[in-house]
Amino acid sequence: MDYFQYRRGKLYCENVAVDDIVRSAGTPAYIYSKATLGVHFQRFARAFAPLQPLICYSVKSCGNLAILRELRRCGSGFDVVSGGELFRALQIGADPATIVFAGVGKTDREINEALAAGIGWFNIESEEEFWNLDRLASLRGVVAQAALRVNPDVSSRGTHRKTLTGKKETKFGIDINRAADFYSQASRAAHARLHALHLHIGSPIQSPRPFVNAIGKALALIDRLARRGMVIDTIDIGGGFAAFYEGNEAPSAAEYAAAIVPLLVGRNLRVILEPGRSISCNAGILVSRVQYAKQGGKKKFIIVDAAMNDLIRPTLYESYHFIWPVNPGPARVPPRRLSSLRIPGDEKVDVVGPICESGDYLARDRWLPVLQRGALLAVFSTGAYGFAMSSQYNTRPRAVEVLVDGSVWRVIRRRETYRDLIAGEE
Ligand code: LLP
Repeated sequence: MDYFQYRRGKLYCENVAVDDIVRSAGTPAYIYSKATLGVHFQRFARAFAPLQPLICYSVKSCGNLAILRELRRCGSGFDVVSGGELFRALQIGADPATIVFAGVGKTDREINEALAAGIGWFNIESEEEFWNLDRLASLRGVVAQAALRVNPDVSSRGTHRKTLTGKKETKFGIDINRAADFYSQASRAAHARLHALHLHIGSPIQSPRPFVNAIGKALALIDRLARRGMVIDTIDIGGGFAAFYEGNEAPSAAEYAAAIVPLLVGRNLRVILEPGRSISCNAGILVSRVQYAKQGGKKKFIIVDAAMNDLIRPTLYESYHFIWPVNPGPARVPPRRLSSLRIPGDEKVDVVGPICESGDYLARDRWLPVLQRGALLAVFSTGAYGFAMSSQYNTRPRAVEVLVDGSVWRVIRRRETYRDLIAGEE
């Protein structure tokens, strides 16, 4: 669900025509819908309400300050994975007690920054990291709250191997079979309290089932610890809830909650969720302009001004993003966003960028209306891990980011300039 809709043959974000925005903001442009962000956040909040969870939006999915501010206004806390993300969250005035800090390689500097801020939980990914946290907290004379990221060794069909994290052969968390012993050793620490359990099994997890499996294993561990006199008072079930790339294929927040809430209700555990994609993905599109069309052997290429540096997901994960003209005209409005969509008269093309690599594509073998030079294309479902993973490769300034709110829009990150690109170089 989102507020990007065609009206009279033109794409609108909420009540603003997308071509009006790019006429002044230029392309490539990331355009976000404030209402869509809010709806997706509220759906999670409502669905999981029986657990009174702390929802910590995952900053890595889309970390623009204006987006974070909107989510804080909705009542969100934040999941951060670096000193930089912590800095972002603090910049918008997030309550440090609502920040969780994950990541397998936290540096002393990052840990010290988080201790100084007084964040809610350190999500610990190894034994060595825990003892380092204890040491650094003791040097500051404080006590840090920590959760152990447990690797539950569950699989999830449909999750790309590069974003599956809940199998023991991945670098994340510690093996669930080692966890009980480690909780027991950690109880000796004087400056780090390990009284919470963290899970994050991958992204996206296309069905509730892997969550149920992982939480089931985690609860069995919590019960085992309780029998040994160790109290776990908080469970963080991570993120990984799916978003809509094609039609309505993802489970809704309500469907995830229907499977997960009964497992946790009445357990006397504080519950934390870390959704990123499920909130930001459908709230953003990437708009790009057609530069040229050309034939290469049997293939037709549509060369646009966005590239793999703006959106790396198609080439990195072979991920699918629906692409359609911004102004297709009333006869070519797509009835649904489907990979199989083909309207008579469409032609099969690769949509590619200007970067000097054959991997620089946004779509391959895609049926699209015939496109003229100068036409605008929208790449949908790019609010999550779109701008956030963009780079300056080929010395390309990163795209402008725009936020739409009803009938008004504003630039929330200006397009980078050539000067920005060389700032800091000798
Ligand atoms: N919590 C932790 C500890 C995570 O590592 C992640 C994502 C999340 C929460 C949020 O997951 P989400 O709700 O957004 O699925 N670049 C990839 C996705 C990488 C996800 C990394 N961790 C992509 O574009 O698909």
